[in-house]
Amino acid sequence: MGGTQPSFPIVTLKKEHLVVVTGGNTGIGYETAKWIAMMGARVIIACRSEERARAAIENMQIEFKEEKTKTTAGLCTYDTLSVEFMALDLASMKSVQTFINDFTAKESHLNLLICNAGIAICGQAYTEDDFESMFQVNYLGHFLIVTKLLPMMLKSGSDCRVVMVTSDSHEVAKFDLENAQGRQHTKESFPRHEYYGNTKLYQIMQMFSLNRKLRNTDVSVISVHPGLVDTEVTRGFSDFLFWNMYFKVYKWLGLSKTPFEGATTVINAAVNPKYHRSRDCYFVDLKETEPSNDAKNEDYQEAVWEYTLGCLKDYLQEKDLTFLNHL
Ligand SMILES: NC(=O)c1ccc[n+]([C@@H]2O[C@H](COP(=O)([O-])OP(=O)(O)OC[C@H]3O[C@@H](n4cnc5c(N)ncnc54)[C@H](OP(=O)(O)O)[C@@H]3O)[C@@H](O)[C@H]2O)c1
Repeated sequence: MGGTQPSFPIVTLKKEHLVVVTGGNTGIGYETAKWIAMMGARVIIACRSEERARAAIENMQIEFKEEKTKTTAGLCTYDTLSVEFMALDLASMKSVQTFINDFTAKESHLNLLICNAGIAICGQAYTEDDFESMFQVNYLGHFLIVTKLLPMMLKSGSDCRVVMVTSDSHEVAKFDLENAQGRQHTKESFPRHEYYGNTKLYQIMQMFSLNRKLRNTDVSVISVHPGLVDTEVTRGFSDFLFWNMYFKVYKWLGLSKTPFEGATTVINAAVNPKYHRSRDCYFVDLKETEPSNDAKNEDYQEAVWEYTLGCLKDYLQEKDLTFLNHL
């Protein structure tokens, strides 16, 4: 960064401005959590590895001190960042439920929720809850968190936002809810990119469905594609020669973004005052862009919504459904 101003506004956020970033221990989530904390907010990184999360927080503190020695204007004046860890393994609905219970027991408000954690282009695998792993980690677990934390967000003052870190891979998705779990495939025939794309498509659809319900409130939902970013996301497809090479060549040609560059689109959507109450925006490289036609199809959005409620029937109580129906 070298002290130049980043491409998002550095706004002043109050210490009480509470932010949750899922998967904030590395990659895009790490940079997002760090920069939002550097603007003054209190940030909780919800991560599956306490060790990795604590190491990340230590690193953020070091980088914050370094950033203060540069000429970056607008950073908070605190000595240390307010960043905390909470346990969350999205591949386990039990862990997701525990996270929700712990969060709602200790906090009374939430201003910003960034659904960032994700895995990409993974082989066919199923979670302990018997859902396709990318479907649960990228989409279903986040859906439950958003649903359960929304009542709190609605009472958290003005300009609360949910940011979905999705992907342009939603364009390769194949809308086919009957086969949403990919069980018709063998390990060899499982189309990994398509199923990753499906999860990102569902996130964008959730944005549209939620925004319809939240129309008259001060909570809005925004989606972003961060670009092709050089992060640990490649772990998911280290055994997949094509995608592995694709990312390597991109990096070698200097075309991939750094995690900070990838995070700029997320941070901009999360804090730029310009997007207060902005709804149904899908940002690519900071620019508002049209998502795919499938993503915008209202019948498909409603079908995904109903399908998802079915998947979560053991986790959503009558009061949650009543809340969603009366939004
Ligand atoms: N990188 C790209 O080119 C790109 C492009 C488009 C969209 N995206 C999206 O950007 C988001 C961030 O990805 P990234 O590139 O920063 O990847 P990354 O470096 O691999 O970071 C992913 C984060 O998600 C966490 N995570 C994975 N599985 C989890 C689980 N079961 N429970 C809780 N957290 C879990 C990881 O935790 P651990 O460290 O413990 O694994 C990590 O913190 C993802 O949603 C991804 O789909 C990335």
